[in-house]
Amino acid sequence: MRAKRTTLVHLIYFSRLNLSADATSRTQQIGEITRQAQKKNEFAVITSFLIIEQNFAAQIIEGERTSVSDTFARISNDSRHRDVQIVEWREIVKREFVNSFTTGIRTPVNDGIFQKASLLPMFQRGTPKAGAIHALAVTLQAESMTKQGIDHLFV
Ligand SMILES: Cc1cc2nc3c(=O)[nH]c(=O)nc-3n(C[C@H](O)[C@H](O)[C@H](O)COP(=O)(O)O)c2cc1C
Repeated sequence: MRAKRTTLVHLIYFSRLNLSADATSRTQQIGEITRQAQKKNEFAVITSFLIIEQNFAAQIIEGERTSVSDTFARISNDSRHRDVQIVEWREIVKREFVNSFTTGIRTPVNDGIFQKASLLPMFQRGTPKAGAIHALAVTLQAESMTKQGIDHLFV
C-alpha cells in the first residue's frame, strides 16, 4: 500500500522591502536573506520563489501545510520588510518550483519579462493578482533553467 501523501499547499504573499538604497548593501542584505532562507527551507522541505521589483517583494512558498505555515509566521515577523499581505493560500497537487529559495530580481537583462507581467502597477495599487505573481515566477524559473541548459528535465 502506498503511504498517504501529506497535504501540499502554496502561499503567495507580497510586501514592501525595508532594504538599503545603496546597491552594494542591498545586494548584501538580499544575500543574507537568501542564506538564511535556503538553509531553513531545505530543512523544512519548502520550495519557493521570491520576486523583487523595486522595493516590492512577492514570494510563493510551497510545501507541507504546517511547514508553510511555520515558515510564513517567521517571514511575516521579519523587520526587513513590512505590510506583508497574503494574496493566496491553497492546496496544490504538485510543486512547481525546484529550489528551496530562488530570487528573481528585475534587472536590465530580464526587464522585458517583468514589463510583460506588469506587476508593478498592481503592487503600487496594493492589489497584485496571485495568477500574475505565479506566472512571472514560473517564467523567470524557466528562463533561468534554459540558461543553465537543464530545462528538458522539468517539462
Ligand atoms: C523577503 C523575505 C523572504 C524570506 N523568505 C524566507 C523563506 O523562504 N524561508 C525562511 O525560512 N526564511 C525566510 N526569510 C527570513 C525569515 O524572515 C527569518 O529571518 C529566518 O527564517 C530566520 O528566522 P529566525 O531568526 O526566527 O530563526 C525571508 C525574509 C524576507 C525579508
